[in-house]
Amino acid sequence: MKEKLLKLKEEISNKLLEVKDLAGLKDLEEKYFNRKSEFNIILKGIKDLSDDLKKDIGQLANSIKQELTLSLQEAKNSIEKQRVSKEKFDPSLPAQKQETGHLHPLTQIRNEIEDLFHSMGFAVIDGPELESDYHNFTALNFAPHHPAREMQDTFFVDLKNKDEQYDMIMRTHTSPVQIRAMKKYGAPLRAIVPGRCFRNEATDARHEHTFYQLEGIVIDKGINFSHLKGVLETVGKKLYGPNTKLRMRPKYYPFVEPGSNGEYTCFLCSGKGCRVCKYTGWLEILGCGMIHPDVLKNGGIDPKKYSGFAFGFGFDRLVMLKYNIDDTRLFNSGDLRFLKQF
Ligand code: DAH
Repeated sequence: MKEKLLKLKEEISNKLLEVKDLAGLKDLEEKYFNRKSEFNIILKGIKDLSDDLKKDIGQLANSIKQELTLSLQEAKNSIEKQRVSKEKFDPSLPAQKQETGHLHPLTQIRNEIEDLFHSMGFAVIDGPELESDYHNFTALNFAPHHPAREMQDTFFVDLKNKDEQYDMIMRTHTSPVQIRAMKKYGAPLRAIVPGRCFRNEATDARHEHTFYQLEGIVIDKGINFSHLKGVLETVGKKLYGPNTKLRMRPKYYPFVEPGSNGEYTCFLCSGKGCRVCKYTGWLEILGCGMIHPDVLKNGGIDPKKYSGFAFGFGFDRLVMLKYNIDDTRLFNSGDLRFLKQF
């Protein structure tokens, strides 16, 4: 048995020297080390030997097994090394092109506008997209069942707010963050809220169920309508050029009094009238007004001491107009042919 083992060891060692690739090595392993191999049959037979022999042969068999396992591993390593060094490396080949993406057009303009507002001392804040009916409507002066709620076709969610037991909805505008900000920071306050909103729209080129708004809120002592106008004029000039004019016309929003819309002179025809502005010379982009005293109260701010204004830009529309994009659904489409243009 001893001779057999030694012979087998020599045989395997010789074969190992001849092996040239991993496949050959695998064959060898299979042949000499699988369960039914000669080597394993010898190992199994050891238990039937006399005690003396068992010890002797057992030790020998073990050391041979260890040695062979080591040689096998070494052979594997050296084959692998050879393979790698044989692989040709041609430094004159052109490098593989690294495709880098870029920011979404909505994000690009959002960053620009955030910078502008930062420079005017506004904080940029955030609020939840899944919002309570209370913050989205009631606290903003939309009484329950008031017809003004119909202006915003809402996604209702089958869920109650844990602490307050209010119905939950997908926020239809960024205005609920006005209340949250007042409660959290108090007055004076100067902030913008860029964010995603949701409405149950039948989608078409001008309507999407998921869209963006940019809310603004300023509260301090002695804030009046001319402050609002000044800020909106500055934003218009930044967005559409220094000759941009602002027009404000009364409009109803329950949370402001007086309420107004905001229109800028058309950047394409400079107010002369064209297809983009539907031959009016003006582009309606925002809603705004002086914050209603009841809304200030709901935010925990004393309307006798403080006043404020708020505004809300239709953010997608603003970017559509800036880049002459004719279908709002493109923003969420993920279509690279569209996105690569920016
Ligand atoms: N939240 C309004 C909407 O979605 C827009 C708006 C109007 C926001 C007037 C305001 C505001 O802050 O003062 O239609």
